[in-house]
Amino acid sequence: MAFDPVLYDDIIAAFTIDTEHLHQAAAAFRQDMRLGLTGSPDSSLRMLPSYLGLPTGEERGDYLALDFGGTNVRVLLYRLAGNGKYEMLSHVAKPLKVDGVYDFIGAEATGEEMFDFIAGLVDEVVGGDHETPYLLGHTFSFPSSQTNINNARLIIWTKEFAARGVEGEVVNDLLRAALVRQGLSNVTPNSVINDTVAVLLSAAYIYGDTKIGAIYATGHNTCYLESYTGTANAPMILNMESGGFSKLVPNRFDIALDAASEKKGEQRLEKMVSGRYMGELFGMALAELLGTKEHMHAFTSVDISRILEDVNGDAQSAASIVETATGQMLSAEDAVCVRELARTIVVRSVRLIAATFVGTLWQITGEGEIRPQHIAVDGSVYEKMPLVKETMADVFAELLGEDAPKVDTILASCGSGLGAALAAAMVESG
Ligand code: GLC
Repeated sequence: MAFDPVLYDDIIAAFTIDTEHLHQAAAAFRQDMRLGLTGSPDSSLRMLPSYLGLPTGEERGDYLALDFGGTNVRVLLYRLAGNGKYEMLSHVAKPLKVDGVYDFIGAEATGEEMFDFIAGLVDEVVGGDHETPYLLGHTFSFPSSQTNINNARLIIWTKEFAARGVEGEVVNDLLRAALVRQGLSNVTPNSVINDTVAVLLSAAYIYGDTKIGAIYATGHNTCYLESYTGTANAPMILNMESGGFSKLVPNRFDIALDAASEKKGEQRLEKMVSGRYMGELFGMALAELLGTKEHMHAFTSVDISRILEDVNGDAQSAASIVETATGQMLSAEDAVCVRELARTIVVRSVRLIAATFVGTLWQITGEGEIRPQHIAVDGSVYEKMPLVKETMADVFAELLGEDAPKVDTILASCGSGLGAALAAAMVESG
């Protein structure tokens, strides 16, 4: 191998987590949940109340849904038919940023411009109808504090969003004002939920037996139904903002990535695991191997997917993706090492996320026995990245032993949209 073998082994070791450390991660996560529930400032989990429990499965009617949480914004019109049934009547999706054309995400943009763009999408979905009253559920996938179901205030942008005039604001006030400017006073936003909450609502509506919802995509986060056993509180879904979990030991790449990010010190778990960052970690580690540390090589998690999809002996995809990004031609032997690096970064990501699921299961279960259940997950990394589902199941076997078969992860695709429509229906029926 042309790479320094000692350095290579050292990098692989930096991204490897053994069973003992994984167990510790799950236990530390559960401990942070407990601290967060008591409101302790020592918890890195926000444990944000959603003001919603689970749907009954009988929600019915037509509702608008806004799914706002990544580069793509979607507005959808759903018809809920009860018994876990639904139909999507119409939808539009547009990116908030098109390179060289417009950008509603960066620090140059204002919240007003961003929400005017979104109100335009709502207008498209209702076909210019400015008369028929509609209720709209809003999936807003950023950390927000709420004192009721409709007044989410953005605490801090994540996922490298930076538009001005939104942090600290009540997002549905901004949305409502933009809808009015668009002539859409007939559209009433009545609820705001996190995307993890939307995923949990949609899976609970369709499949039942689900108490944990997560996103594994550009960002990463998990919510769960807190039963508040033994207290007078009614069960409520809590958005943990688990991407902010900070009780893991970062390696040197995690530290460097954080230092170069928009929000230093925030979202430490997310920066180790999510799709927005895995390609960057890979690029940094590769630069060390190639001895080109001064250059930042740009890779995405889609590149990583493509590298892992190629299972041939000479890892040709790894070689060609690396050549495109860095101009360097790798030998077949080095390409195989690079593929192994990609695999190690992805496996670490899945193992850490699965450990947080186990910590959450322990918290839900308390002293009792784990009940058979699904963990609902949505997001492109969960859906498309090789190795994710089997690695997740391996971790359950590793940490849960004989209880592992009781738990599985299921894909709740489009949960962010459907969940918003369900929230709007749940709020209407009170
Ligand atoms: C980020 C956001 C969080 C969201 C997650 C997935 O972590 O802070 O609210 O749920 O991304 O989109």
